[in-house]
Amino acid sequence: MEMPSIGFGLWKVAAEDCRATIAEAVRAGYRHFDCAADYGNEAAVGEGIAAAIAEGLCRREDLWITSKLWNTFHAPEHVEAACRKSLDDLGLDYLDLYLIHFPIALAFVPIEERYPPEWIHDPAADNPVMQRASVPLHQTWAAMEALADKELVRNIGVSNYNSALIHDLMTYARIRPMTLQIEAHPYLTQDKLVRLAKDYGLQVTAFSPLGALSYVELDMAGAGDTVLNEPCVTSAAAAHDKTPAQVVLRWALQRGTSIIPKSTNPERMRENLAIDDFSLSEDEMAAISALNSNRRFNDPGVFCELAFDSFHPIYD
Ligand code: A2P
Repeated sequence: MEMPSIGFGLWKVAAEDCRATIAEAVRAGYRHFDCAADYGNEAAVGEGIAAAIAEGLCRREDLWITSKLWNTFHAPEHVEAACRKSLDDLGLDYLDLYLIHFPIALAFVPIEERYPPEWIHDPAADNPVMQRASVPLHQTWAAMEALADKELVRNIGVSNYNSALIHDLMTYARIRPMTLQIEAHPYLTQDKLVRLAKDYGLQVTAFSPLGALSYVELDMAGAGDTVLNEPCVTSAAAAHDKTPAQVVLRWALQRGTSIIPKSTNPERMRENLAIDDFSLSEDEMAAISALNSNRRFNDPGVFCELAFDSFHPIYD
């Protein structure tokens, strides 16, 4: 099965909303769901998937389900247990795609102690901080390959890797990564990284394809940071009788990236899927691409220090 180019992102969907949101998304036509242990809602997502299948809205084999290995499970001996926990929570016997969530190895926290473990090693400590683990990424990748060998996962990939890490990965990968998932939107086009990934044959999935909108509720962006008010976006929207969000999502597809927008609003869910009936011109594409200002909203080098009192840059 090919990965549908528009997926539904489950990050920040509250557990209590997952069941209704998934039913609504499947009804709207989504078949690709982007999950992660760290989103803290996989059990609820699993209930939503099971309910959608039981209601006859779809079959398991029609769905593309992605999940991600959390940072505390990078040591090879923890990778399979972490994957099996996601499978159990999601109610699945295989994943279509399993990604290394971040190139950041953190000290192990047992599943039965705290799940998902998140970033801070011991939240009850006097000075709660992140605790690094000394695990090289090639060891984690070998354990990911073992999951594919056991057919627990059909494809493996990486997220939040930079170009140097991709070059390195390609020197040792026995099973090639299928996908690179990265933050990408008109303010952060990452042209070189996207081009490099494609040169190596990886598909690129853009998370936060609408840019700042993902981060307003987290206080990591202001409402005024949105790309949807940019004149080149609004004028293309008017010209094609589409919304600014549809123009930005279409731009992402046309530059060859998959997208995983999230919306808990049924109307916007449908809006975000209805982008295959128009094309942006070369000039419109170029104008939107020219908005790039290398503005990254999801940067561990920033938020780990602000939120976890831990300095851990990975892109600089
Ligand atoms: P909502 O769920 O209320 O629709 P992400 O980038 O993580 O996928 O988040 C997308 C953010 O943008 C969410 O806050 C979502 O809010 C909002 N959003 C999703 N689709 C649209 C749209 N078509 N128009 C405007 N805002 C949208």
